[in-house]
Amino acid sequence: MTQGSPQGMTQGSATQTTRTTAEAFDAVDIIRTKRDKGTLSPEQIDWTIDAYTRGVIADEQMAALNMAILLNGMDRSEISRWTAAMIASGERMDFSGLRNPDGSVKPTADKHSTGGVGDKITLPLAPLVAVFGVAVPQLSGRGLGHTGGTLDKLESIPGWQAFLSNEAIMAQLQDVGAVICAAGAGLAPADKKLYALRDVTGTVEAIPLIASSIMSKKIAEGTGSLVLDVKVGSGAFMKDEAKARELAETMVALGQDAGVNTVALLTNMDTPLGLTAGNAIEVEECVEVLAGGGPDDVVELTVRLAEEMLACAGVHDADPAAALKDGRAMDVWNRMIRAQGGDPGARLPVVKESETIYAEADGVLVQLDALSVGVAAWRLGAGRARKEDAVQAGAGVRLHAKPGALVKAGEPLMTLLTDTPEKFDRAREALAGATVIAPEGSRPAQQLIIDRIA
Ligand code: URA
Repeated sequence: MTQGSPQGMTQGSATQTTRTTAEAFDAVDIIRTKRDKGTLSPEQIDWTIDAYTRGVIADEQMAALNMAILLNGMDRSEISRWTAAMIASGERMDFSGLRNPDGSVKPTADKHSTGGVGDKITLPLAPLVAVFGVAVPQLSGRGLGHTGGTLDKLESIPGWQAFLSNEAIMAQLQDVGAVICAAGAGLAPADKKLYALRDVTGTVEAIPLIASSIMSKKIAEGTGSLVLDVKVGSGAFMKDEAKARELAETMVALGQDAGVNTVALLTNMDTPLGLTAGNAIEVEECVEVLAGGGPDDVVELTVRLAEEMLACAGVHDADPAAALKDGRAMDVWNRMIRAQGGDPGARLPVVKESETIYAEADGVLVQLDALSVGVAAWRLGAGRARKEDAVQAGAGVRLHAKPGALVKAGEPLMTLLTDTPEKFDRAREALAGATVIAPEGSRPAQQLIIDRIA
């Protein structure tokens, strides 16, 4: 993919490297083009991603280019090429060898959520979709900040292993049909370096960069179909519906351009999903959903995303709600957890300390702020501030009421869980103003699935 790859190029300062004659372009010219609202050529984009990955473009130059992109945007062809260049920076997985019992190729489908509080949907969703013969390669990450990470949740199951070789992923997809594991370092390595730089230079929010970052990893993962759950609201990355919609439309277009059947749902993240935000407590809630129960919003979103994934993969006559009720999804879950060394029947970790927060008035709970609950769970030990921090498996927030519920003064609203009670004060601070109780008859405006973008 690279234009003018250097021979014997050394890594070093920007001044040394960008003046080298072996390079096809000059980073400063590329920055000036974007600064002046110009369009980058495909060759310039390929070179930029490759040269940055090789260390030829310095961090300060890439930071300037990212800021120019944040301020001036990129057109669809630029974003598409930027994504392709990031995919080409690493390996691409290939699931075309998966077979159905009749010898036909097994379809694959994946889901990506932009992240929210209590968003545990991947856990019941992957085995549920696999029930219908569609393989689900769900390569996931850890949580950072107030949104939880799928791997952190699953690691609360005794024995469960997040790291699998590519061969083990293939074998599990063939035998069980679903795998949730750590995404390997080989997928879109350019994105890893770029994302770390964006994180410390105030450029994470650029929609072209978010869309290409997410989609480069998902396309490199090799899935045939992809359903995006783009969250909107206080607990989401995108607080504003117009921005979330623009992100969803950009990602759907990127997926389609790359030959992946892609659709997006815009879903509400003003309040946490389900009744738990943490790790082990979220797994426990998912097991309830897989047993045919669980909170209505978790069931609704799981079933809807399963329907979308199955339709994208060409399966139109499935009834995912029935597969939750009759135990078929639970059977796949048990096999999926065992295949990765976990004991699905083991007792999950519980914390040593808890504190309950009570309603201060009678009425209807009209607000339960997702961001506040996410920050509280994080401060209680369920999340991490830095990549290398450990999480407490049992920590988090258990909710006793959701918006729309009638509550009475003195009734429990939520329970805070941690192994380290000195964390309670900061968690309570995060929850100041998180709940609003209005007179009976008030109705919270909550619509879980806001729109579908295809
Ligand atoms: N998640 C990603 O993977 N990349 C972004 O840029 C933002 C969120």
